[in-house]
Amino acid sequence: MRVLLTGGAGFIGSHTAIVLIEHEHEVVILDDLSNASDEAVRRASRLAGTEIPLVVGDAGDRELVGRVLAEHRIDAVIHFAGRKAVGESVAKPLEYYRVNLGSAIATLEAMAEQGVERFVFSSSATVYERPGPLLAEDAQVGLDLENPYGRTKAIIEAIVTDASMANSALQAAVLRYFNPVGAHASGNIGEDPKGIPNNLMPFVAQVAAGVRERLRIFGDDYDTPDGTGVRDYIHVVDLAEGHVAALEALAPGVLTVNLGTGSGGSVLDVLRAFEAAVGRELPHEIVARRPGDAAISTADPTLAHERLGWRATRSLDDAVRDAWRWQRQNPRGYAD
Ligand code: UFG
Repeated sequence: MRVLLTGGAGFIGSHTAIVLIEHEHEVVILDDLSNASDEAVRRASRLAGTEIPLVVGDAGDRELVGRVLAEHRIDAVIHFAGRKAVGESVAKPLEYYRVNLGSAIATLEAMAEQGVERFVFSSSATVYERPGPLLAEDAQVGLDLENPYGRTKAIIEAIVTDASMANSALQAAVLRYFNPVGAHASGNIGEDPKGIPNNLMPFVAQVAAGVRERLRIFGDDYDTPDGTGVRDYIHVVDLAEGHVAALEALAPGVLTVNLGTGSGGSVLDVLRAFEAAVGRELPHEIVARRPGDAAISTADPTLAHERLGWRATRSLDDAVRDAWRWQRQNPRGYAD
């Protein structure tokens, strides 16, 4: 298939581009580069062995999306575009609603106008109102969430469902990501957060590289085996393979699946895995809990296996080793 990746220059999109090409699909990227780098597309092209066309522009611009769909004779869209920083969404809710809802609606409208029926959406485990262990897809989803970012994802899920009700030809997949981590095994592409990383793995990587002084562990008094928060860390290449499996399994209607491993890792597990990869202890301290954080969030990945024939195969140690290789080779990310 010829697949348009909106937001395809970002962390998950760039890895998905490579895996799609490895599966004989063709890829076009539309990205406004507001939180991504064209260097990621150049490197992904090199790794994939083919030039990936990059259109620099906004997925919220319906006419532009329509032109790209027509000019490249696109068969399917994977919609990654959007803002993704939880804390920033609390400070800038209107921007998050405008950008995330606006780009999803514009992309779906452009698809309808151009007769493109296949749509894969980047959702998030954050749509579950009551995080916990082994969350299945029928767990409660709604707007009673900790932050506007999560609400944008829950609303877009509802938009996709409504669009599907109105157009029975639409073939959609909604992918609820747990915690994407790691990097391409080459160390040439990876996660390149701007400023101080909010998320655990890139923060620890920067501590290991000497860019940040020490990791602050947000609470060690949770009801978890070691008292620190537990998450389902999924290697970004496993996640990318999940997108290809979802694309190839599309059928009329909306299929909603978790993309996670089913295993939990604590903050201390991540720290220890990193220390093992780096070969020394990393400075850290325990501080207060971060507001809004759940004790545990892990996926029940059964449905993805049943419906997509997909499951994650890479371990937390694999993800940490790959993240460290990327960080070591590119201490300043794509600026190097
Ligand atoms: N943590 C620390 N110190 C840090 C950063 C994180 O101790 O400097 C801890 C958190 O308290 C949490 C765990 O590490 O227990 C993971 O935190 P992340 O910020 O890496 O990830 P979250 O689970 O909070 O958030 C992720 C995505 C969101 C998504 C959410 C869905 O970043 O986009 O999962 O559950 F909404």
